[in-house]
Amino acid sequence: MKLWGGRFAGNTAEEMAAFGDSLSFDRRLADADVRGSLAWAEAITAAGVLTAEEGACIREGLLRIRRELAEGSFAFQPSDEDIHTAIERRLGELVGPVAGKLHTGRSRNDQVATDLRLYVLDRIPGLHRAVRGVQEALVAQAEAHPGVALPGYTHGQPAQPLLLAHWFLSHFWPLERDLERLSEIRRRVAICPLGSAALAGTPLPIDREAVARALGFDRASDNSLDAVADRDFVVELLAWAALTASHLSRLAADLVTWSAPEYGFVELDDAYATGSSIMPQKKNPDSLELIRARAGRLLGNLVALLTVLKGLPSGYNKDLQEDKEPLFDSLDTLELALKVAAGAVGTLSVRPERMAAALDDLLLATELADYLAGRGVPFRKAHDLVGQAVRLALQRGVGLRDLSLEHYRSLSPAFGADLYEVLDVDAALARRRVHGGTAPSAVAAQLQRARECLAAESG
Ligand code: ARG
Repeated sequence: MKLWGGRFAGNTAEEMAAFGDSLSFDRRLADADVRGSLAWAEAITAAGVLTAEEGACIREGLLRIRRELAEGSFAFQPSDEDIHTAIERRLGELVGPVAGKLHTGRSRNDQVATDLRLYVLDRIPGLHRAVRGVQEALVAQAEAHPGVALPGYTHGQPAQPLLLAHWFLSHFWPLERDLERLSEIRRRVAICPLGSAALAGTPLPIDREAVARALGFDRASDNSLDAVADRDFVVELLAWAALTASHLSRLAADLVTWSAPEYGFVELDDAYATGSSIMPQKKNPDSLELIRARAGRLLGNLVALLTVLKGLPSGYNKDLQEDKEPLFDSLDTLELALKVAAGAVGTLSVRPERMAAALDDLLLATELADYLAGRGVPFRKAHDLVGQAVRLALQRGVGLRDLSLEHYRSLSPAFGADLYEVLDVDAALARRRVHGGTAPSAVAAQLQRARECLAAESG
C-alpha cells in the first residue's frame, strides 16, 4: 500500500525505496503518531467529517494498534514506507475502508512535525533526570571531601590551590545552565503544527487550540507554511546536546589526567575502567575517554542538520526527513553519556594525600605578590620581584619557603619576616572568601546553593 500511488503507473525502484524509506528509524515515532491520529480523529469528528460511529471505530482501531506496538506484536511490512504509512495500513486492515477517512484535511507534513515534537516532549524529562544524576554525583563528592585541597591548573600548569569541592562544583553549574536551556527549548517544542496540513492549513473547521491542548502542547503554531518546515527545535536540541556533552568532556578531560599514576589524584572504580590486552598493569579510563569523544559526534550531528537546512526553500522538503537520525542519535548518546558520567563520578576514589603532595609552594607565588602589594608595592613591581624569587628557588631546586629572609630582602626591603605566613595553602584558600571563591566558607555557601537547585525540582 502506498499513500500516493494513484498518479503513478510504474513501480518504485528497489534502491529508491531503500534510499527513501524512513521506517527503520521513524518507527520510534509510533506512539506519538497514534496519539496524533487519535487527536485528529476526534477533531474531525467534532468538525462533522466523521460520524460518531466512524470516529469511534477509528479510535478503537488506533487503540488496538497502540497495544500491538506496546506488546511488540505489530507486524511491519516491507512495503511500509514510513511509520505513518505503516499505521494507516494497519488501521485499514483492522477497521476497513473507513480508515481512509482519517487522513481527511491532514498531511504527513503536519503529521510528522507533530509526531517529532511529541516525541521530544516525551524525552525531555528523562534527559533532565540524567543531567540531575551527574549533578547529584558532583554534589555528593563535594560533600564527601570538604577540606581537601589540590592544585588548580591553567594552561595545564599548576596555578593556585583550590578546594576539591570547588572543582567538583565547577562542573555542577554548567549543567544547571544546561537544564535552564532545556526548559527554554521545551517552550518552543510545545507548539502544535497539527492542522497546518500540507502547507496552507486544513480546510476543515478545526479548533486547533483544542487539538494542541489535547495532545499536551501549550498552543497551536501561527503559520502553516512555517510549521511544516520548522525544525528549529531540532537544531536547538542538537546544539543543547553538543554543549552539554562538551561540559561532560571537560570534566572527563581533567579526570583522565588525574587518574594517570603520575598524578594519582583519583582512581576510577573498576566498573568504569578497562584493562589492556597486552600491558597487564594498565587501568584505562575508557568511560571518560568515550564521554570526551562523543561530544565530537554530537557536534557533528548539529552541523549535519544545519547543513541540510541551510538553503532549503519554504515548505516541506524531503530533505527534512534527515532531521531524525541525528536527533535520535544525539539524545540517545547524550543520555547514556550522562548516566556513565554520573556513575564514574559517583564511584570515584579521591586520594587527598596525592593532591597534598602536589601542592608545591610555587602555587603560592601569587600570595607573595599580593603580600608585597599589601605593603604598598605596585602589583606589577611585586609580580616582578616574586618572579625573581621564583627563578632563584628554581635554580637552587628549593621552594619559596626555603629562601632566607636575606634573599628576599636583597630583592626588596618591603619583604618582612611575616612573609612566610602567607606561604601557606590554608591561608591562601581562606583569603578567597568572596562569593564564588574557593575559601572553605565560600564553598560551603556554594554547596548550599547547589543543594537548593537540586531540591527545587521543577522539571
Ligand atoms: N517520512 C517523512 C519524513 O520523515 C514523512 C513526511 C513525508 N511527507 C511527504 N510529503 N513525503 O519527513
